[in-house]
Amino acid sequence: MAEQTFSPGLAGVIAGETEVACVDQGQLLYRGYPIEELAQKSTFEEVAYLLIYGDLPNDSQLQAIKASLDKYRPLDAALVDALRTIPKDTAMMDVLRSMVSYAGHFDPTSGDDSDAYRERAVWLTAQIAGIIAARFRFLNGHEPLDPKPGLSHAAQILYQAHGEEPDALAERIIDLTLVLYAEHDFNASTFTARVICSTLSDMVSAIVGGIGALKGPLHGGANEAAMEMLEQFKTQEEATAWIADALENKGKIMGFGHRVYKNGDHRAVILEGELRKLAEQKGQQNWMAIYDAIKEPMVNDKKIYPNVDYPCGLTYYLMGLPLDLYTPLFVASRVTGWCAHFIEQAADNRIYRPLSIYTGEAKRPVKG
Ligand SMILES: CC(C)(COP(=O)(O)OP(=O)(O)OC[C@H]1O[C@@H](n2cnc3c(N)ncnc32)[C@H](O)[C@@H]1OP(=O)(O)O)[C@@H](O)C(=O)NCCC(=O)NCCS
Repeated sequence: MAEQTFSPGLAGVIAGETEVACVDQGQLLYRGYPIEELAQKSTFEEVAYLLIYGDLPNDSQLQAIKASLDKYRPLDAALVDALRTIPKDTAMMDVLRSMVSYAGHFDPTSGDDSDAYRERAVWLTAQIAGIIAARFRFLNGHEPLDPKPGLSHAAQILYQAHGEEPDALAERIIDLTLVLYAEHDFNASTFTARVICSTLSDMVSAIVGGIGALKGPLHGGANEAAMEMLEQFKTQEEATAWIADALENKGKIMGFGHRVYKNGDHRAVILEGELRKLAEQKGQQNWMAIYDAIKEPMVNDKKIYPNVDYPCGLTYYLMGLPLDLYTPLFVASRVTGWCAHFIEQAADNRIYRPLSIYTGEAKRPVKG
C-alpha cells in the first residue's frame, strides 16, 4: 500500500489535472494566457468564451456568445416572484444561492454532453447577473428591469441594477474585475463544484455548491470583509494604530495572504493600479492613505501580500456599490470558471473520495 500522508487543508496535495488554468511560477494563466494580458486586451465575454469553449473567440464566436447571453438574460416570472418573497435582511449571497437553485427548475437547455454543458454555462452566467441586479432593485424599492440587448455583461449588470447605463470608467472597472475573478484552478469553490460533479450530479447543483463555498470570508467573502475593515477608519492614523494592534494580537487581516501566492497576487497588482486612478479621479485619495496604512506593515513587516480581494473591496466601494454586492459580483464572474471545471471533470471523471484519520472513541460495545 502506498504511503499515506495527511495535509491539513489539502495544502500541497495534487487533487486532479486541469487544462483550464494554472499558477505558473507565481503567474496566473487562463488556458495558457497570462492574466496581465487578458486584463489589458480582453473583455469578460472573451474570457468567458475562453474558459467555457477552450480558446479565445474569433469575431463570429464572440458575437454568438454575446447573443446567447442576451437570449438567456430574462428571468422567469416565477423566479422574480420568488425573489420578491425573500426577506429584505437576507444576505445577497444567500439569496443568490437559493435563486440559482430555483432557476434550475426553468433551465431551457437540455442534455448531458459537453455541448449541452457549455450552453448551460452561458445560460447560468446570464441568469446570475440578472438575479443579482433584480434583487438589488427590490432592495431599493424598484421592480426589476428588463435587460437591454447589446450591452456588455459588465454594463448590463450595472444597467439592470441602477436603471441607467454606466459611464465608460465604471463599465471598464467592472469588466476588469470580472476578468480577474473568472478562474483560479483548484480553489475551494471550484474544488467543491468538481466534487459535486464527480458524483455525476448536475451543473446547477455544482454551481450552488460553489456559491456556498465562495461565500466564506476566507475565500470570496474576503472582498466584503476587507472593505468592512477599511470602513471603520476615518484617518490613516487610525488604520496604522489598528493594524499594529491586530498584528500584535495575531489577528487575521482580510484581503491578505494566499495559499498559492507567497510573493504576491498579480491580480491584486493589476487592480490596485486601476484603484489608484479611480481614487484620484473621484478625489478620494484619503481612502488610498488608509489602504496603504494597512498594506505597508503587512507587506514590509509580515511579508504577507494583498490578494485580489483587498483592492477589489475598495474599488467597488469607490464606485458606490453596496458591500453586500461584492461577493455576488465575484460569483457573476467565477461561474464561468466553475462551469469550465465541471465540463472538464465530467469528461474524465472519477468520484472524489478521500480518506480521514479517525480520532474518535476506540471500538466499544453498545450497553444493554
Ligand atoms: C487565504 C488564506 C485562507 C490562506 O490560508 P493558508 O494557506 O492556510 O495560510 P498560510 O499557511 O499561508 O499562513 C501562513 C502564516 O501566515 C499567516 N497569515 C496568512 N494570511 C494572513 C492574514 N490575512 N492575516 C494575518 N496573518 C495571515 C497565518 O496565520 C500563518 O501564520 P502562522 O504560521 O504564525 O500560523 C489566508 O491567508 C487568509 O485567511 N487570508 C485572509 C482571507 C482572505 O483574504 N481570503 C481571500 C483569499 S483569495
